[in-house]
Amino acid sequence: MQGTFYVVGVGPGDPQLMTLKAAKILEKCAVWFVPSAFDNGGSMALKIASGVISSEGKTILSHRFPMKQIHRGESPDPEVKSAWQSAAKIIMASLADGQDVVFPTLGDPAIYSTGFYICETLQEYGSPFQVEIVPGVSAIGASSAAAAMPLCLGDERLVVIPATFENDRLQEILELSDVVVFMKVYKVMERLVGLLEDLGLVDNAVLVERCSLEDQHIWTDVREAVGRDIHYFSTIVVRKERAV
Ligand SMILES: C[S@@+](CC[C@H](N)C(=O)[O-])C[C@H]1O[C@@H](n2cnc3c(N)ncnc32)[C@H](O)[C@@H]1O
Repeated sequence: MQGTFYVVGVGPGDPQLMTLKAAKILEKCAVWFVPSAFDNGGSMALKIASGVISSEGKTILSHRFPMKQIHRGESPDPEVKSAWQSAAKIIMASLADGQDVVFPTLGDPAIYSTGFYICETLQEYGSPFQVEIVPGVSAIGASSAAAAMPLCLGDERLVVIPATFENDRLQEILELSDVVVFMKVYKVMERLVGLLEDLGLVDNAVLVERCSLEDQHIWTDVREAVGRDIHYFSTIVVRKERAV
């Protein structure tokens, strides 16, 4: 019998924010397929997961996924596609062997996670696999909590977007929404802060860096973060109407 492929959200960093269900699945799966953005195999998802469940005795398959922009509806960069395809082939081999495979992913699998691309690729290959997606605490909710800034109240409209998009698109979204969560802000801080200043929204923005980790930093004046080496784990929440 084929194994099951589990895509499991492990939360934003603090192992205490991992769900009991995620822990149970990590415990029962002998094969952990862990995403890494680096050649040395370093994986935040693995670090969080093994902070709760020992990885000793598990088969850890680390796979590098290049960090490149993906536009839905368009063909992905060949390097990205090839990483999804090689990952799917390795996972299919374990599933065909009857082994369950868990893919721990940062935050929640529904938000910009490679897990769903792997599921799509497995489907393209016609793998008759069973899949189970286990939600996790997203950096979105965790950053909102850390900054004590609610995401939606009453009839407010919330938009979540990578800050790497062009200014025109970001401006349009800021004009149409009540609350905007910007992810992947670390490389574009200067441009984003400039846009928020132009729109008179810079004082409504809070930057949460390394949320829920020991060195979490909350920047209540995002201008101060410009020109600094802000970590990849950084999220900005902008509320048009201040709430607290
Ligand atoms: C590829 S997305 C993954 C999002 C993840 N699936 C989630 O639900 O949080 C990576 C982005 O998530 C945000 N992020 C992830 N962990 C974070 C943390 N601990 N603190 C702040 N932002 C974080 C950052 O904006 C980062 O650039």
